[in-house]
Amino acid sequence: MGQTLTEKILDDHLVEGELETGEEIGIEIDQVLTQDTTGTLVWLQFEALDMDEVQTEVAAQYCDHQTYQFDFKNTDDHRFLRSAAGTFGAHYSRPGNGICHNVHKENFAAPGKTMLGSDSHTPTPGGLGELAIGSGGLDVAVAMGGGPYYIEMPEIVSVRLEGELPDWATAKDVILEMLRRFSVKGGVGKIFEYTGPGVETLTVPERTTITNMGTELGATTSIFPTDEETKDWLSRLGREDEYAELKPDDDAEYDDEIVIDLSDLEPLIAKPSMPDNVVPVREVAGEKVDQVILGSCTNGGYEDILPAAKMLEGRTIDRKTDLIVAPGSKQASEMLAREGWVAEMMAAGVNFSEATCGACIGIGHVPASDSVSLRTFNRNFEGRSGIEDDSVYLCSPEVATAAALKGEIVDPRDLADELGDMDAPGIEIGEKYGTSADDPDLIAPDEAVDDDLIKGPNIGDVPLKDELESELAGPALLKMQDNITTDHIIPATQDILMYRSNIPKLSEFTLSRVDDSFAQRALDADGGFLVAGENYGQGSSREHAALCPMFLGVEGVLAQSFARIHKANLFNFGLLPLEIDADDYEKIEQGDDIEVVDDVSEAVRSGQEEFTVRVNNDWELTATLDASERERRILADGGKLSHTKKQAESG
Ligand code: F3S
Repeated sequence: MGQTLTEKILDDHLVEGELETGEEIGIEIDQVLTQDTTGTLVWLQFEALDMDEVQTEVAAQYCDHQTYQFDFKNTDDHRFLRSAAGTFGAHYSRPGNGICHNVHKENFAAPGKTMLGSDSHTPTPGGLGELAIGSGGLDVAVAMGGGPYYIEMPEIVSVRLEGELPDWATAKDVILEMLRRFSVKGGVGKIFEYTGPGVETLTVPERTTITNMGTELGATTSIFPTDEETKDWLSRLGREDEYAELKPDDDAEYDDEIVIDLSDLEPLIAKPSMPDNVVPVREVAGEKVDQVILGSCTNGGYEDILPAAKMLEGRTIDRKTDLIVAPGSKQASEMLAREGWVAEMMAAGVNFSEATCGACIGIGHVPASDSVSLRTFNRNFEGRSGIEDDSVYLCSPEVATAAALKGEIVDPRDLADELGDMDAPGIEIGEKYGTSADDPDLIAPDEAVDDDLIKGPNIGDVPLKDELESELAGPALLKMQDNITTDHIIPATQDILMYRSNIPKLSEFTLSRVDDSFAQRALDADGGFLVAGENYGQGSSREHAALCPMFLGVEGVLAQSFARIHKANLFNFGLLPLEIDADDYEKIEQGDDIEVVDDVSEAVRSGQEEFTVRVNNDWELTATLDASERERRILADGGKLSHTKKQAESG
């Protein structure tokens, strides 16, 4: 039987296990990526593991989430990250150089490689045939030290693209259509492999918009085959020698197949406040818009902003609507500037901003209270924009720009009819891209300026957890609903995330958006459990969302289901993730006494799947631990750091 493209890459990198759905496999990692909010911990963990040199082909540290310097903390972190990259042998991308996925795509992503990144949108380079997976930072630290990455072999689903996108429908509409059909849980345990004749009609930047936002489906990753488009895109970057032709075999068998006819698509929009709340733009046309932002790792490339610039040329935006453009990389900004598009956009009324994550995580350009903001980003979780009562819509650059011109949501096809002289802009790739060779903002390991770690006062040690105990009991500290995100657990706003390297301080903010007395109650209880509905921990890969509850003494989470990366992070920090059914979830009340009846340490080590949980010494439920043998050893040893150290000590 032939192989899928995913199987071919995994086979090439397999160090443990068999490529059978549901089996745990270990794969070798070629490239790692980390960014500034997760990177400090990655390097502190790398140091704590007594590693002294990066072992992967490429390791890159980007500074993109916290680039604004409000006081010394972000700058201290960036200096630490530069020193860590220099000391251990990684590339260092300076603040302002761009968003990790954009800069990585432009400089390092290559067909057939594997990549692990401590950011949930790591799958972005799947658009050029790289198998890239988001994970917690500790997994990245271990992979960077040469260790394999372990994962349960996902189902491989073919997304067969047919036809060609009509005018004004875009790659963003392809992924919004996927979200409309399958929801934010539709990709859990799956890899989406794009196939079919429609693939060749999409450019590499269009493909990476789709693979980037596969994360919102909960997918492990998404990937496209490579072809002349890929080759052409790499040659524009001076990287044609990194091209390799990659395709599935003709007789490859997939676990499932989805068909999307591109020619049937129309402009779509995700309404507040979930990326899967998708409707045709025409359904919400007429809604007044206060703010529009173009950018992010989904639609921040030169090829994303160019169509907007063309639509704006010779026009001005509505007087009541602000339009901010924040490209995904300095390279994109530079190309737009060299070709005169920045001046055109400014003349139209654009506020041209730094290449950074910024507004995507509520840092800068926070919307006014009770206002509507249209963004080309990938997430619109409630409060993520920096204000609780936000109303954020997600759409393509074309839909966003049409709204900025009209001052209200409008299907760009209708605006084009109304204006009479606005053609669908399409994408024309500019003549020349910059290359990493002469990029002063990307410092290669052999150009490093530091050879020792520089730690400022806001950078502390990583807390370690003791071995799992035999008896686990404590109160249900907090009961939460479905789809709790890592943003709920540890918000990524500047006032909070500036403590990302200072765990005791950061922990004070744990789940504060759900219940601001939680952290103190957890500390006072000295142990206890979180209770949640479906898909607990969806969203960003932020391992602080497991580390901070661990620091506060939380012992485990009882949830109906877990998001993949967060569940791995719970193992990595020694927290017991138990699945419970919907009826039991309904019955548990916040404050109930929870006791795991089994000898927990013994049961975890011996592979026991079902645990008896006694509530209020009154009734019992059965909870399930779905974990591989390796995850069980990690959990029992008190988390991955303690486990890896123990392994190293025992030789
Ligand atoms: Fe940055 Fe937002 Fe992407 S925070 S990495 S632009 S999802």
